[in-house]
Amino acid sequence: MEHLWPLHGIRLTTPDLALTVMAEPDLPLVLSVLPADLELNPHATTYAGLGHEANRRAVVMQGYWRALGLWSPSDWMLPFVVRRAGAVIGVQWLEGPDYLTDHTVDSSSWLVAGVRGRGLGRQMRAAVLDLAFGPLAAEAAISSAVTANAASLGVSQSLGYRATHTSVLPHSGEVLQHVRLERDAWRAGRAAGTTTLEGVDAALPLFGLGEGR
Ligand SMILES: CC(C)(COP(=O)(O)OP(=O)(O)OC[C@H]1O[C@@H](n2cnc3c(N)ncnc32)[C@H](O)[C@@H]1OP(=O)(O)O)[C@@H](O)C(=O)NCCC(=O)NCCS
Repeated sequence: MEHLWPLHGIRLTTPDLALTVMAEPDLPLVLSVLPADLELNPHATTYAGLGHEANRRAVVMQGYWRALGLWSPSDWMLPFVVRRAGAVIGVQWLEGPDYLTDHTVDSSSWLVAGVRGRGLGRQMRAAVLDLAFGPLAAEAAISSAVTANAASLGVSQSLGYRATHTSVLPHSGEVLQHVRLERDAWRAGRAAGTTTLEGVDAALPLFGLGEGR
């Protein structure tokens, strides 16, 4: 099937999960399972006339629209809806904020509380790394999490990222641990074919890649 916006044809399949690029009809499903403990962008616009939950929904929706609306090959953010057995259980982001210059991807993710700690966070991060280090030809992946977030740092450590440096979050004073994974380290430790990638070729021009460049 041809997609008017080729990114929407990308599908990543792992042993337990299916990741599809978020689209407008996914928003109500995603919002219906948004975890209460998930910290959202502290710099996002909030609306004095809206309540707490409505403001959280606004941050998520505007984050989605911003990601695809402001897309460019040099600065992109790709949100995936994560499903297990057809049910939405989380969101995985892959980002290339200066991609044409440094070929480096960043990522962030969340899962509903009931499925955490069972290896699924690792599986969905690995899926987007297979996309990044495969057809998107990334050279490195970075990530960061507050030092108290053992699960997020656990996913990174388990996939071979190494700690690089720390910084302090200005709005909260919390310490952020930064980590990095090089392409060669990923390829050396990864079995080919663990993630099935579909629909990527048609989307490559949006990353500045592929024929007709
Ligand atoms: C972060 C998150 C996506 C990780 O997914 P997950 O499914 O819970 O993590 P996994 O079960 O895949 O664990 C991956 C690794 O981290 C380790 N880990 C997971 N939770 C941990 C915890 N609470 N403490 C210590 N280690 C932990 C696991 O042992 C595993 O390591 P291994 O592969 O060497 O055994 C998930 O916990 C989540 O949604 N958290 C809330 C949202 C959030 O904080 N997002 C990140 C913002 S930067």
